[in-house]
Amino acid sequence: MKSRILKILRSENKIVSGEELSAALKVSRVSVWKHIQSLQGSGYRIVAGPKGYRLENSPDALFAWEFAERQSNIHYFPETSSTMDIARDLARKGCPHYTIVIAGRQKKGRGRLSRIWLSSEGGLYFTLVLRPDIPAAHASRITFLASVVLAQTLRKLYDIDAKVKWPNDILVGGKKISGMLSEMEAEADMVSFINIGIGVNVNNDPSIKEPVATSLKKLKGKEFLRKELLSVFLDEFENRLNTKSFDDIISQWKQYTMTLNQPVKIVTYRDTYEGIAVDVDENGALILKLENGTLQKVVCGDCFQ
Ligand code: BTN
Repeated sequence: MKSRILKILRSENKIVSGEELSAALKVSRVSVWKHIQSLQGSGYRIVAGPKGYRLENSPDALFAWEFAERQSNIHYFPETSSTMDIARDLARKGCPHYTIVIAGRQKKGRGRLSRIWLSSEGGLYFTLVLRPDIPAAHASRITFLASVVLAQTLRKLYDIDAKVKWPNDILVGGKKISGMLSEMEAEADMVSFINIGIGVNVNNDPSIKEPVATSLKKLKGKEFLRKELLSVFLDEFENRLNTKSFDDIISQWKQYTMTLNQPVKIVTYRDTYEGIAVDVDENGALILKLENGTLQKVVCGDCFQ
C-alpha cells in the first residue's frame, strides 16, 4: 500500500485528495490517512491539508516498499548486527532465490578474512541470497559476475573509473569504495545457496578510520541516492544471472581489473605469497609468478598491491 501511495504522490507531483487516493487504491480514506501517518513517521515529508496530500520530500531510506515489485523479497533493518547473519538464517529456512537483506547500519559488519567492515549510516549494506543451479565448484563465478556488474553500475551512474582488485574489491583512484563477501552451502556438490554481501561507501566517510578507503560522497563532493544505486544494480545483476552465460565472466572481469601484470602480496589464512599476478583462471583463482619463477595458484586471499 505504501508503495502505491508513494507512486501516486510522486507521479502527480501536486496535491492529491483523500478521495482520489482512496478510489485509486480501493481502501477507505481512514486507511489512506493511517498509511500517510506511518510514512510521515518514517521520514517522508507529506503535507496534509484540507485539499489533500502532497509529497515534498522522501528520505534516502531503503524500505522494502521503495522497491515495488521486489517488496516481498526485501528485508530492511534500520540497524542490525550483520546482513550476512540474517541472510544465512533466511537461506537455511528456505527463503526464495533473490531474497535481499538490507541494513541502514551494521553493528558487526564483517569483511573477508575475519576483518571488520565499518558500517556507519550513509553506506549501502546488503546481502543477496542466490540459489543458482550450478555446481559448487563454479560458485565463485557468481561473485565475479557481481563485481563486474557493480563496477559497471558505478561507472554508468557516477562516471567514475571503478576498477576491480582481485578478488572482488572495487577501487577508485587506488582507494576502496566497495567490498564483497560470499558464503555458500552445498548439497551433493550442487549449490544450495550463495549469499553475497556487498558494502558500498556512498554517503559515509570510512577514510577517517581507513585511509585507503573512499566513498562516492568524498569523490564527488555531494550525496547520492542509495536506493537508485541498489535498484539499478539489482535489476542488472538479475538480468545477467538469468542469461546463465557464466562462461565469459572472468574475461569481462579482466576488462576492469587493476590486479593483472602487477606485483602483489597475497595473504591467505595460512600463507603469504609475493609475486606477479599473471592470470585469473576460469573459476577466479589468481595465478601468481613467484620470485623463483614457479607458478602458484591462490583460490582465496587478500591482495595488497
Ligand atoms: C571485504 O571487502 O572484506 C568484504 C566486505 C563486505 C561487507 C558487506 S556489508 C553487507 C554484508 N554484511 C556484512 O557484514 N558484510 C557484508
